[in-house]
Amino acid sequence: MNSNKIKRFQTGLDMEQKENEEDINVFIDILPDGAMIIRGTVKVRFANGETRVLRNINSFCRCGNSGNKPFCDGSHYGSGYRD
Ligand code: FES
Repeated sequence: MNSNKIKRFQTGLDMEQKENEEDINVFIDILPDGAMIIRGTVKVRFANGETRVLRNINSFCRCGNSGNKPFCDGSHYGSGYRD
């Protein structure tokens, strides 16, 4: 990704240009007081530098309590985490 592309993404211009639903192939749901669900095929670069292609549905932790970060393991239930 070149610097122009990164700058455009950071300003949200790429997101604004994707107004046509047919162009969208990744869906992100932020669950209230819980995980971030990503549906679609995405390439993820983890904190340790590893990259993996994830397909279908993946649940990412937002609360910080997961024992399987960056993925949600359900620990947010009963943790008191609130948006
Ligand atoms: S959001 Fe589920 S364990 Fe953190």
